[in-house]
Order: sequence, then C-alpha cells, then structure tokens
Amino acid sequence: MSPKERVNILMVDDQPAKLLSYEAILGELDENLVKATSGKEALEYLLKSDVAVVLMDVSMPEIDGFELASMIRQHPRFHRTAIIFISAVHLTDLDRLKGYERGAVDYISVPVIPELLRAKVSAFAELHRKALQLSNLNRQLEQRVAERTQELENKAQALELLNLQLNQKNDQLAAILQTAPDIIFSSRGDGSRDFLSASFFEYTGATPESAMGFGWMNYVHSEDREKIKTHWAQCIQRRQDYEAEYRIRNRTGEYRWFRARAVPLRGEELQSSRWYGTCSDIQDSKLLEQSIRENSTTLEKLVEERTEALRHLSSRLMRMQDEERRRIARELHDSLGQELAAAKMTVDGIVSQSSSASKDQCALEASGSIDRALQQVRTMSHLLHPPLLDEVGLVSALRWYLDGMMKRSGIQTSLDVQPSEFPRLTPQCETAIFRIVQEALTNVFRHSEASQSRVSLARHENNVLVEIRDNGKGMDEGVTKFRPGTVGVGIGGMRQRVEEFGGKLRLSNASPGTVVEVVIPVEHQARERVLATA
Ligand SMILES: Nc1ncnc2c1ncn2[C@@H]1O[C@H](COP(=O)(O)OP(=O)(O)OP(=O)(O)O)[C@@H](O)[C@H]1O
Ligand SMILES: [Mg+2]
Repeated sequence: MSPKERVNILMVDDQPAKLLSYEAILGELDENLVKATSGKEALEYLLKSDVAVVLMDVSMPEIDGFELASMIRQHPRFHRTAIIFISAVHLTDLDRLKGYERGAVDYISVPVIPELLRAKVSAFAELHRKALQLSNLNRQLEQRVAERTQELENKAQALELLNLQLNQKNDQLAAILQTAPDIIFSSRGDGSRDFLSASFFEYTGATPESAMGFGWMNYVHSEDREKIKTHWAQCIQRRQDYEAEYRIRNRTGEYRWFRARAVPLRGEELQSSRWYGTCSDIQDSKLLEQSIRENSTTLEKLVEERTEALRHLSSRLMRMQDEERRRIARELHDSLGQELAAAKMTVDGIVSQSSSASKDQCALEASGSIDRALQQVRTMSHLLHPPLLDEVGLVSALRWYLDGMMKRSGIQTSLDVQPSEFPRLTPQCETAIFRIVQEALTNVFRHSEASQSRVSLARHENNVLVEIRDNGKGMDEGVTKFRPGTVGVGIGGMRQRVEEFGGKLRLSNASPGTVVEVVIPVEHQARERVLATA
C-alpha cells in the first residue's frame, strides 16, 4: 500500500447539514469521506468496509453515539478503529469518561474548530494507514518467511535424498571393490598409491602398510620394475593415460602377468590430480598368445623343412631317374649290345667259314651269346618289375629277389615268413612291400658293410609286419629320426609308401646293425581282396 492511498473516514450524524460541514472541513485531507445519517447506516457500512476513523455525533435518534461506539467496539475488526465523538451537549467530565469507556479516542465539542478536527482526523487516518502498511508488511514478511522455510525444507529433503543415493552408491562401489577380480587402485598426484582393492592383498598376501605409497612396486618382478617406474613417472608428469604389462608376485612367490590401466582425474595443479585404475590378470591369455606364436614359428619351420626336403627329394629323384636311364643304357650297350654284337660277328663268321665243323662251332657260340642276351633282358625286366609278384605272390617274388641279391652282393640273406602259407594281399600292397624290402636290402648292400641280413614277413592280427635286419655298422642317428637332409629318396620313398597305407616305418640301430620295421594295417585290404575275388 502506497502512503497516498486513501483511507475511509466515516462521518455519522442525523443532521445532513452537519455532515456537509464536516465534509467541507475534512475535504482537503484528500481521504475517502463516507457519510451516514444514522447508527444503522453506519453499522451497515462498517460491516462491509474497513474504516480508519469514525466521526460521530453523540446524540442521535434510535441508536445514539455511545451505543453505536459500544456496538462497533464489540466487533474484533474494529477494536482499534479510532472513534471521535462530536457533541454540543454533555460536556461534563463524566460524559467524556463515558465516551472513552465506550471506546472513543477523542472527544470534540461544538463549535468545532476546523483545524483541530482536521488535525485529529488526519493524525488518526495516518495512524490507521501506518497500521495497515505495517500489517501488510507483516503479511508479506510472513509470506516470505513461509516461502523461504518451504524452500529450505525442499532443499533439506533433496539433500537427504541425495545423501541416501550417495550412500547407496557408496555401498555398491564398496561391493564392487570387494568382489571385483581385478585389482582396483587410486593414486595421488605424485603417483603414490592411496588405495588398493582387497584382491591385491589376497593375491600378494601384502599388508596395507607395506603396499601403500610406492610399496606395491616391491611385488613387481625385478625385470619389469624399472621400466614401469619410468613409464608411470612419465604419464604422471604429462598427465596422460597409463597402460603397462608386468609380472606381480603372488603369496606363494610365483609371478603372473598383469595389465594395468589408469586414467587421471585432472585437478588444477599436478599435485591435485588423482589417478584411478585397474590391474587385470592376463597370464592365461599371455601364455596362449605365446604358445600360438611359438606354434606358428614351429609350423613355419616345419613347412620350410618339409619344402626343403621335398625339393631335395625331387631333385634326387630326377638325378636317380637319369642314373637309372644311364645304367639301363649302359647295361643295354655294354652287356646286351656286346652280346648281340658278338652274336652278329659270329653269325657273319659262319658265312665265311669253309668247314661245317667250324660253322657248327660258330653257330653254337652265336646261340650262347643270344642266350646270355635273353637272360640279361629277363633279369633287367624282372628287376624293373618282377612278374612273379603278380603271378605267384609276394613271398615267391621275395625269395627270387633274395637269391639274386645274395649272388650279386655276397651277403648271406634269409627270409622268414609267418604263417608259412602267407595270404595274398592287394597288388598295390604287395608291390609296396616288395619295393620296401628291395630298397632296404640295396641299402644294406650299399651302406652297411654287413655280412648277413634277414628279412621277416609276418601277419599279426590285422597287420603285416616286415623287418629287415643286418649286422652292419648301423645308421646315423639323424637317419633314424628322419631328419631332413639325412634321408634320401630310398628311405623317403619307403616312408611315403608306408604312410599311403596308413602304416608306420621305424628305423633303429640294433648294435650291431640296423633294423627297418614296417607295420601296414591290412584288414580292409584283405576284405577288399575277398570281395574282388567273389
Ligand atoms: N642298412 C643300413 N646301414 C647303414 N646305413 C644305412 C642303412 N640304410 C641306410 N643307411 C643310411 O641312410 C642313408 C639314407 O638312405 P636312403 O636309402 O634314404 O638314401 P641312399 O641310400 O643314400 O640313396 P638312395 O636315395 O639312392 O636310396 C644312407 O645314405 C645311409 O647313410
Ligand atoms: Mg637307398
């Protein structure tokens, strides 16, 4: 409410002329002047509106001034409303006292002195205005206090909720820290640890006093310590993310690989930064990675070795083919060619011979040459592929071969066969075994310096076992282990043939001599053979 705002001044008098004169006197106060010509009219107005001053005549018909004042005072709203009596009569002190008792605040007698009336009304009007302002202010103040109190209450409630949530988060965090398999840590701005989760202590068996600060580094492998110390210091200096792999000692003294990662929570100053990080066990993945790396290196090496061996074998094979061709050519030229040339010369000589006895002699010589040539052709052809092998089987072919071999080499060679009625195998299997024995005995002849050798052929359950033994000087260890570079096409081919049949080849030294053992599974071959015969 502004100070200029008008207040109501109620003037009560049964004589309208008097009311007009009051109005004239009070007009210049610039307040809201309300006129009532009876006590009733005044009461009606008072019930509806707020009034600052009631100016009333004492003597009025129906309700006089004293009665009206008492009625007004009874109402709580008008306890402090200023009531000024105006009276031309009853001016005794008793009358005044009665007036005050009824609630009058002042008493003016007629003739009214305008300035006096104006000054008094103005003073009470001002008082009322101030009282109104004060109560308004009070109300506003109360309102603000209530608002502020509500605001504070809301804030307190929000704070309480936040506290609750914070406590819950703290509990969750504590549970995570307690149960996380990884080591969780935090460090101060200078890099010293001020927190390590339970898993660190469980793993290392360390006490908190020994691990805090930089003490945890004592559990790091001495080979990794300096490296991570430098790296950690650099990251702290530059305030950049940290990552490192190192070994940590467990409570039994063994080391496992861990990967640590930490990020800085930047403060204004280096010292006010904080670091939070984790340390995870990567031992298993590290081992796996390492074994994969090693395996792939071994595999690469093996492939390289095999490729080299194959290259070696193929070049030897080509050389051998050439040698074989050369040998056959030489055989053809030196023996067969010679025999045929001799036969030709002898036959040509028959023509020039005069006596029939000489002719017969030359014919005999020519026939002998042709016989030898035929024999040589047969031997060469049989060695290239023995026809006995197809006709009467492996055992007979081996016997024939061993006889020839003994004659050619002078090495005493025997053949044991178990059972003596050895069953037939598939042609491929019989050829393979024949070639293996052929190569093994050639090796005995070429390399062993042996005087004796023995070939055993046995059928045991579903396998065929072949063994070629000699009493020679024995093999180099590299050959027995099939080390690349030590074996030639001979043993290489043997091995390949055996593997093609799903079998196994074993070379060993028997002091004295060498043992070549071959195992070939034959059950399915026998079945195939029976089916084929049927
Ligand atoms: N019975 C044996 N006694 C001693 N050493 C042997 C015997 N058999 C093989 N060896 C050794 O094993 C090596 C490899 O034999 P392999 O048959 O693979 O090749 P090679 O006989 O040398 O040549 P080729 O490829 O012509 O057969 C021989 O060079 C020899 O040193
Ligand atoms: Mg050989």
